[in-house]
Amino acid sequence: MDRPRITVFDTTLRDGEQSPGCSMNVEEKLRLAQQLDRLGVDVIEAGFPIASDGDFEAVQRIAASVRRPVIAGLARACTGDVNRAWQALQGAARPRIHVFLATSDIHLKYKLRITREQCLEQAREAVRHAKSLCVDIEFSPEDATRTDVAFLCQVVEAVIAAGATTVNIPDTVGYSMPEEYGNLMRTLREKVAGIDKVTISTHCHNDLGLAVANSLAGVQQGARQVECTINGIGERAGNASLEEIVMVMRVRPDRYPYETTVASEHLYSSSQMLAEITRVPVQPNKAITGRNAFAHEAGIHQDGMLKNPLTYEIMTPQSVGVPDSRLVLGKHSGRHALALRCEQLGHQFERRELDEIYRRFVVLADRIKKVQDSHLLELIHDVASGNASKGDGAASHGKKFPPAAASLPLPRAAAAGANSNDAHPAQVSGSAGQAPVSIPFTDHHSEQEDYLWGV
Ligand code: KIV
Ligand code: ZN
Repeated sequence: MDRPRITVFDTTLRDGEQSPGCSMNVEEKLRLAQQLDRLGVDVIEAGFPIASDGDFEAVQRIAASVRRPVIAGLARACTGDVNRAWQALQGAARPRIHVFLATSDIHLKYKLRITREQCLEQAREAVRHAKSLCVDIEFSPEDATRTDVAFLCQVVEAVIAAGATTVNIPDTVGYSMPEEYGNLMRTLREKVAGIDKVTISTHCHNDLGLAVANSLAGVQQGARQVECTINGIGERAGNASLEEIVMVMRVRPDRYPYETTVASEHLYSSSQMLAEITRVPVQPNKAITGRNAFAHEAGIHQDGMLKNPLTYEIMTPQSVGVPDSRLVLGKHSGRHALALRCEQLGHQFERRELDEIYRRFVVLADRIKKVQDSHLLELIHDVASGNASKGDGAASHGKKFPPAAASLPLPRAAAAGANSNDAHPAQVSGSAGQAPVSIPFTDHHSEQEDYLWGV
């Protein structure tokens, strides 16, 4: 039986970018949007066009150049915002205007200073106006989870009648519990006329660490779109993490039998690219993409891993694109291995650019023997910013290289060989019904190939 398809709506460039220290310029947003496209998300919320000229330009440029996914722009429920969003989105192959208005009494009374009746009318009017410009309209009743349920149903019904095609239910302050959030979805499906004609969406913040659990509870009660961000960045404690939601569905299809089109082998590079752009590092124990997510230090664990990775890993590092620790980058490494590692870190280069990076890499490797990802990223930065140097860029700026990572590289091939008949869980389920994901480093690193690449 076909599994229901979940639309992955990425808001890293909007809600994520609103979090402290995570703002990005136009070029950076464009680069990340291209990576999100590669990752396979369905919707990219590219920004909030009325917020600044930079955000407007970012939405406009992403709309013009990223053509596969839907490109969404955020707007408050007023004519000026909606018009500005539409102006930025017009060039998109698949534009979406995302209108929001708070509906909880707390927000109405203290923030907006309007009555419920005014709120209802404003929401209806804004959606009607947006619909006159664009077919694809999303509406979000901000602070939905603290809104009187009967009033929430009234607003949702009104915006559907006015033309909304997606109704998003934000847990704006991360207050909800999974059961409550799921029940709210069920109530909306039972009580709101026309709800079966639209997509219901989750949008959960992580103030109590429940954003992913709440999103999944929403999906179990009929939501078919999840809003999330890379590395879970977002206002305050962040949004639901995209990589966690996707991998829950992939590793536990027995409990969450849903499909996404996300190519999970690009999760790590997306996470690294975001960390590199924002300079906000990924927490080491972050699920899926943290530095320690596949590291094993305790003797008992190492022993188990060497006998069979199934003992302590529920998915392969390759299935999420984490580089295999067997591939050590040193002065004997070739261009092919270097290009692959750059790609895993979110950078793809033309042959000529790679030549320059390789030239500096060899100089650096000669000095420090083992080149870590952080060294490589610094070197890439230097090359990209045009820092002229005869040697390795970072070294020429007197920067100190961080010490090598402390984790023990496990010989995965030997470990896997301990019982090669036991397929790994993530390899069994594969991605979106496709073949299991793995990156065969040995195939990429033969001496013959390096020779052909001119090393
Ligand atoms: O958290 C929230 O309520 C939002 C809305 C604008 C969707 O980000
Ligand atoms: Zn939000």
